[in-house]
Amino acid sequence: MTHVIITGGSSGIGFAVASIYAARGARVSLIARSLDLLERAHADLAQLSGGVADNIGIEAADVASEDELIAAVRRCEAIFGACDILITSAGIVEPGRFEELDSASFRRQIETNFSGTVHAVRAVYDGMKRRGHGRIMMISSGAGLIGIYGYSAYCASKFALHGFAQALRSEAHAHGVGVSVCFPPDTETPQFQREFASRPAEAAKIMGTVRPWPADAVAKTIARGIDRGRFEVYFGTTLFLLGRFAPAIRPLLNWWFDRAIARGGNTAVHNGGVSERRT
Ligand SMILES: NC(=O)c1ccc[n+]([C@@H]2O[C@H](COP(=O)([O-])OP(=O)(O)OC[C@H]3O[C@@H](n4cnc5c(N)ncnc54)[C@H](OP(=O)(O)O)[C@@H]3O)[C@@H](O)[C@H]2O)c1
Repeated sequence: MTHVIITGGSSGIGFAVASIYAARGARVSLIARSLDLLERAHADLAQLSGGVADNIGIEAADVASEDELIAAVRRCEAIFGACDILITSAGIVEPGRFEELDSASFRRQIETNFSGTVHAVRAVYDGMKRRGHGRIMMISSGAGLIGIYGYSAYCASKFALHGFAQALRSEAHAHGVGVSVCFPPDTETPQFQREFASRPAEAAKIMGTVRPWPADAVAKTIARGIDRGRFEVYFGTTLFLLGRFAPAIRPLLNWWFDRAIARGGNTAVHNGGVSERRT
């Protein structure tokens, strides 16, 4: 039976992806820090699978701590067997202009979003290589495709994931291990609600007021990308074009955003995290 490990699986996008795999009858392990949130997610997933919780596991760990995370992954594998699919959804966002963002906040975002993903990959990669089988899906962001005012740490952490995924993909390919990275748009989750409230005014101006995607729609696209073995997974046409052609169109976008910020106008090429209008 497929064993899916999801960091950040207790909430938002991670939880929505967990729901899909639980409904498919997979064994699902959720890793996050808050045991309360994990227990709630466990109960909700059990309900989805007809009250049977046998295939759902939870482990409390901070992804920023390599030792803690590796130990948690080992416990998950001891219960449900080797990890077939790893999804790294654990992440945080703390917006703020660079000079106002203290170094602890900057570091926290890098250590959670980027290093936390690296730690999770390290925990499963050797085993996947040995078995010649496995898939790793990293959750980046639209903010991993273009730099956004007020998101220097978050963008850096999410851009870094893309580079990591590209290099790892080329190493993993020969060993039968698939690597994917996705770039979700603004998505209705607790993180988005917190972030939206603390978004700098300049960022709000350029991001506009496009409606965020529902978490289950984002999760479906992620699961489909995994099923199809896609390397890069995009959400909607705007983000797809940004992903494929960013170096060519970035100067134009930067000019547009700079002008919108200077004029105090409002443009909605994208919204929070660089987003895509739901159709
Ligand atoms: N929502 C959006 O608009 C959006 C857009 C693009 C990309 N993303 C990315 O999608 C991912 C999921 O975001 P979301 O919106 O679903 O957020 P969310 O609802 O806040 O869920 C985040 C999950 O990560 C866990 N987590 C956070 N820090 C952790 C840590 N240090 N160690 C272990 N677990 C940790 C949280 O649990 P605990 O707090 O209990 O640890 C929770 O389970 C993130 O990587 C985010 O950057 C989100």
